[in-house]
Amino acid sequence: MTAFEALRGILPDSAEVLPSGHLAVGGCDLVDLVQQHGTPLYVYDEATILARARAYRDGLRAAYPGDSLVCYASKAYSARWLLQLLAAEGLGLDVVSGGELHVARSAGFPMERTYFHGNNKGEDELAEAVSAGISRVVIDNLEEVERLNRICGGLDRVQPVLLRLTPGVEPHTHEYIRTGAVDTKFGMAIQTGAAEEAVRRIQAAPNLALVGYHAHIGSQIFDLEPFQESARRVMQFAADMLARQGVKPREISPGGGFGMRYTPADDPRTPGDVVGALAEAVLDAAETLLPGEPLPRMTIEPGRSLVATAGVALYTVGSIKHIHGVRTYVAVDGGMADNIRPATYGAEYSSLLANRAGEAPATTVTIAGKYCESGDILVREAHLPAPRVGDVVALPASGAYNLAMASHYNMALKPAVVAIRDGQARLVRRRDTYDDLLRAEV
Ligand SMILES: Cc1ncc(COP(=O)(O)O)c(C=O)c1O
Repeated sequence: MTAFEALRGILPDSAEVLPSGHLAVGGCDLVDLVQQHGTPLYVYDEATILARARAYRDGLRAAYPGDSLVCYASKAYSARWLLQLLAAEGLGLDVVSGGELHVARSAGFPMERTYFHGNNKGEDELAEAVSAGISRVVIDNLEEVERLNRICGGLDRVQPVLLRLTPGVEPHTHEYIRTGAVDTKFGMAIQTGAAEEAVRRIQAAPNLALVGYHAHIGSQIFDLEPFQESARRVMQFAADMLARQGVKPREISPGGGFGMRYTPADDPRTPGDVVGALAEAVLDAAETLLPGEPLPRMTIEPGRSLVATAGVALYTVGSIKHIHGVRTYVAVDGGMADNIRPATYGAEYSSLLANRAGEAPATTVTIAGKYCESGDILVREAHLPAPRVGDVVALPASGAYNLAMASHYNMALKPAVVAIRDGQARLVRRRDTYDDLLRAEV
């Protein structure tokens, strides 16, 4: 089997090997793109993003008879070209900072489909969001109840809000991307009574309107049961609050965090399976716990599973170090400054040579970055045709949380980005220049 064949479902949907042996995406030769734009280069296939967006949107509509909305979690990767693509498909948006809100507004993303999350939103960020007409603020803590109410009072607004709940569900994923357990910085715990106290305070705040509840239990979760359990707990809480506090649950948001494929060992569910399971849990709970109440609007928030597979990171091999009997390091011209995930939580990636994609793997090497940390390793066990200096290494499934977490460590220049649509590649972000590194200095 060639490396390419082993990576189906990890590479973009339109990926193919050309007769030249070059890897192509959306009909565009990636080696040509590298010659044009240099490396590191990030390439996105719009068709792959659209396929995922439509699968979530249409799957949720089919599985859930109530109103529904798929909100893209823009922390995974935010850029105007992407937000405009998703806005045109009728998706909503989740932003978590003034910066993400700024990009969304600058892209013209409809604020009536935008949700504002975050565990410590600042005064300015909240004021800007409310003034912009944000659809929902997702309240995380008691200070925020007081802060947002005061800001909305000053603006003479009544702001619809959701309350972020901590449902006490422990999914199997890395602890840094697990958020649903009681010991987390996010949300208010149902178990401890903190969530009910928050409901009381929101109800007493004249400029806030509590319309429902949100929970997000973590990221890169494959098992559907924790999502269903979380949705059931949120619905139980909603029913309890209707009974005890008179709050009508008009909206329920079971979050995102759906797993996707980085390596052949990953076995994610399809978007259809995910929304089917979530809709079933919410519907069952609505029937038994909220009889006679209208079905709440259901929103979900996929981030990585919407965009990661669409993105391929491309690097050039610059040096190869054989440490006899130990390991071969293949050093590329990017690394932890454009992809911090392997160093932060041991994330695993697949790899292939974009200029020799038709060849079978012949050796196992370690793909190292160029930055000054021993932990700057992109792929510890990469199965590749014996790499040579000048080869183009492709890391698929690089579309989420790579560029979004990119840094200027070692004064690295953030990579250029190319988006492919209908066989045409266009530069949507130029590579940083050295001047960019100095631009904000005073
Ligand atoms: C509140 C919320 N919603 C959605 C997401 C998206 O998660 P993922 O990209 O894993 O789908 C996150 C990720 O951290 C989140 O915190």
